[in-house]
Amino acid sequence: MQLAASATDVEAVSTLVSELCGVTLGASKGYLIEARLGELVDRFHCGSYQELANQARSLMNDALRREIVDKMTTNETLFFRDRSPFEALQHKIIPHLIDAKEKTAYPTRLRIWSAGCSTGQEPYSIAMTLSEMIPDIHDWDISIFATDVSDDAIKTASTGVYAAHHVERGLPSQFREKYFQPSTGGWQVTDAIRSLIRFQRANLLEPFTGFGRFDVIFCRNVAIYFTPERRVDLFKRFADSLSADGYLFVGSAEAPSDLTHRFFPEDHCRSTVYRPHGSTSLT
Ligand SMILES: C[S@@+](CC[C@H](N)C(=O)[O-])C[C@H]1O[C@@H](n2cnc3c(N)ncnc32)[C@H](O)[C@@H]1O
Repeated sequence: MQLAASATDVEAVSTLVSELCGVTLGASKGYLIEARLGELVDRFHCGSYQELANQARSLMNDALRREIVDKMTTNETLFFRDRSPFEALQHKIIPHLIDAKEKTAYPTRLRIWSAGCSTGQEPYSIAMTLSEMIPDIHDWDISIFATDVSDDAIKTASTGVYAAHHVERGLPSQFREKYFQPSTGGWQVTDAIRSLIRFQRANLLEPFTGFGRFDVIFCRNVAIYFTPERRVDLFKRFADSLSADGYLFVGSAEAPSDLTHRFFPEDHCRSTVYRPHGSTSLT
C-alpha cells in the first residue's frame, strides 16, 4: 500500500523540489508526492517522504536528487504546441533574421535555444520549421541548443524516438513522412534533423555559463512553475543572453510584464514575442 504523505512530508519535499529546480508544486501536491515518489521511498528504505528528502540532501546523493527532479517535473509537451509561435518563426522571424544576418560577419549563423525542452518535441518542431524555410540548411551554421533539468527528458529527446500517439499529437502528417522514419517503439526523427540540435541537461536556476548568445530563445511552460522572483531573475538572464536583435518566446501565461525596461512585446501570427530594447521592430 502507498505510504501517505503528512503535512510535514509535503513541506519537506516541496522545499527540496523548489530548491533543486525552482518548481513550486501545485495544490494537489500531497497526491503528487505519493504517486510519484512512493516507489523511491520503498527503494531507499525510507520511513517517510521527509526522510527521503533528507537523504537526497546528503552531499553524496546527487543521483537521488536527479531522480526526484525527474519524477516531480511535469514534462507535458507536444509537437508544434500552440502552433502560432512556429508560424511567427516561419513567416516573420526567420525571414527577418536572414535579412539582418546578411549584413553581419556571420551571414549564415543562427542560434536558437529551447530552454526547458522536455522530451524534445519543441526543439524538433523548431528544426523542422527551419528545414522548411532554408532548403540548403546543412550549408548553414545552425545550432539549436535544447536543455532541460530532467535527465530522463533529455535522454528521450536525444534518441528522438516517439510512440505513434505522440507523433499523432500536433504533427502534420506530411512532416511525419518527411522527417521521421519507422523505428522500434514508434517513429524516430531523421538524423538530418537530429544533427541540428545539441541536447544538454541544464538547470535554469544556475548561471548560463558558456552558453553564448542566441537569436531566439523559446522558454515556454517552464517559468509558470517558478515563484515570481525566480521568473524575473530568469527573464533578466534571458535578456542578457539574447542578441541585440533577438526574440524571446514564453508561454501565454508567462509574459515578462514586470520587465518592461528589458523587453517590449510584438504580435505576429497571433503570437506575442518579446524583444530586447534597441532591437529593430518588425511591425
Ligand atoms: C511542461 S514542460 C514544457 C516543455 C516545452 N517547453 C513545451 O512548452 O511544450 C516543462 C519542462 O521544464 C523543465 N524544467 C522545470 N524546471 C526546470 C529548471 N529549473 N531548469 C530546466 N528545466 C526545467 C521540466 O523538466 C519540463 O520538462
